[in-house]
Amino acid sequence: HFQKLTQPNLSGYKIIITAGPTREKIDPVRYITNHSSGKMGYAIAEEAVQAGAEVVLISGPVSLPAPMGVQLIRIESAEEMYEAVMAEYPNANLVIKTAAVADYRPKIAYDHKVKKKPGEEVLELERTKDILLELGKAKKQQILIGFAAETDHIADYAQAKLKKKNADMIVANNVKAEGAGFGTDTNIVTLFKRDGSSIELPLMSKQAVAAKIIEEASNLLRNEQK
Ligand code: CTP
Ligand code: CA
Repeated sequence: HFQKLTQPNLSGYKIIITAGPTREKIDPVRYITNHSSGKMGYAIAEEAVQAGAEVVLISGPVSLPAPMGVQLIRIESAEEMYEAVMAEYPNANLVIKTAAVADYRPKIAYDHKVKKKPGEEVLELERTKDILLELGKAKKQQILIGFAAETDHIADYAQAKLKKKNADMIVANNVKAEGAGFGTDTNIVTLFKRDGSSIELPLMSKQAVAAKIIEEASNLLRNEQK
């Protein structure tokens, strides 16, 4: 193993990382979710701990062990993730939102198993809160890094999300590309920044992408202080 040339030092910084999918309850036996494995977020949490940061990892249900040294908060729904993030936000310096938050949830979460009934053919959904958007609105000293999982028009959609959510950086990945996206150990991402610049990274391990994101986050935090 090579020693990294530039070891970012994040000691004294509090970082919130969200990871994994959310689960939106239909009834006691059913829910709506997505394919997020949590690997990207857990890798970032590991890198942030190594850089000396205080790390709060707010995670949906995944089958990964908690990285050493993080404070792990387990949640299920988008609403629970929102509450957990907001509770930690006031004194945080950086939020990295890797979580694949469900955009919709069932309008009614039943506490008994739902039966099929004639005439009830459609499950009604409603939108969840957009956590990153809310963080962007309530932003003070915090640096915000979001993710964008796209299948097409990646740069356009990523830049639109950067503006709309008042983020400082969006990590965009093409989930259709070979070796990228859900469940894999590798990823292909481009980092889009507020100043309009972008960094296109080649196919890399999620751990190496995580290290790069922490390096960029460290630069953003340092610029903020000036
Ligand atoms: N996000 C969030 N809360 C939501 C939905 C998304 O905080 N309810 C965050 C994600 O964690 C990610 C960023 O917003 O960091 C972009 O998520 P993405 O699903 O790519 O974009 P959306 O804004 O949900 O738009 P769409 O799914 O329509 O592309
Ligand atoms: Ca979405």
